[in-house]
Amino acid sequence: MASHKQLPRTAQIRLVSSHEEVYEPCDDSFALVDALLADRTNLLEHRPKLCMEIGCGSGYVITSLALTLGQEGCVSNYIATDINPHAVKVTSETLKAHGVDAELIVTDIASGLEKRLAGLVDVMVVNPPYVPTPEDEVGAEGITSSWAGGENGRTVIDRILPAADHLLSEKGWLYMVTLTANNPSEICLQMRNKGYASKIIIQRSTEEESLHVIKFWRDFDTEVDDTADQSASGFISYLLAQIPLFSSWRGSNSNN
Ligand SMILES: C[S@@+](CC[C@H](N)C(=O)[O-])C[C@H]1O[C@@H](n2cnc3c(N)ncnc32)[C@H](O)[C@@H]1O
Repeated sequence: MASHKQLPRTAQIRLVSSHEEVYEPCDDSFALVDALLADRTNLLEHRPKLCMEIGCGSGYVITSLALTLGQEGCVSNYIATDINPHAVKVTSETLKAHGVDAELIVTDIASGLEKRLAGLVDVMVVNPPYVPTPEDEVGAEGITSSWAGGENGRTVIDRILPAADHLLSEKGWLYMVTLTANNPSEICLQMRNKGYASKIIIQRSTEEESLHVIKFWRDFDTEVDDTADQSASGFISYLLAQIPLFSSWRGSNSNN
């Protein structure tokens, strides 16, 4: 039986700070942390030097990641951004309460960090605003920006994907929460066309929604097709993108 010491450490809810304008840890936050725990052995072997969260909210996810990796002696640097200044303050309190540290930046996705972090991020975690809403709610002040995702919930996601591609290192991994309404297969296809493989690490359904946590990693065997959309090669890429998706639906586990 595993000793207490070996159990992975995650942020404790009672130590997670809060503010009325900041997203509280919810099912999607827990799904993302559970995905990181499910992939913990790979993450520890991966030995990430730099981990980044986009949209840190309360700090529950980045704190959990830092605790889980730190517990096993994995020395990593942590950076988190949020467009909501209250979220950055709350995250700083959550980190401090758990005795871990991260650089926190109030910014839109990763604006201003493109040069400094290009190709350096080994692990990126994102629980984006994914709820389909009217477009004018996207980027609104305060807590609305936590969930407002615009058409199909894709407006912010579609801005995060190219930023992730720019910031991720050659061995970089992206873990992202999506909803069925976001069309996760199409997201995987888009990333496939940028040279990434993908698989669902966790899938959870409630009466209202079905959440997926998808992991993306650069697949150097993939032929990148910049023009793939309606073309034949695009369709083949589309089919290829489904293979890891479907295999993970059957609950398979691989090194990635
Ligand atoms: C669904 S909440 C997730 C919060 C936290 N990561 C968690 O899992 O509990 C989405 C977060 O993204 C932030 N956000 C929304 N749009 C953003 C943007 N353009 N750039 C950076 N952060 C953004 C929100 O303020 C919010 O904190």
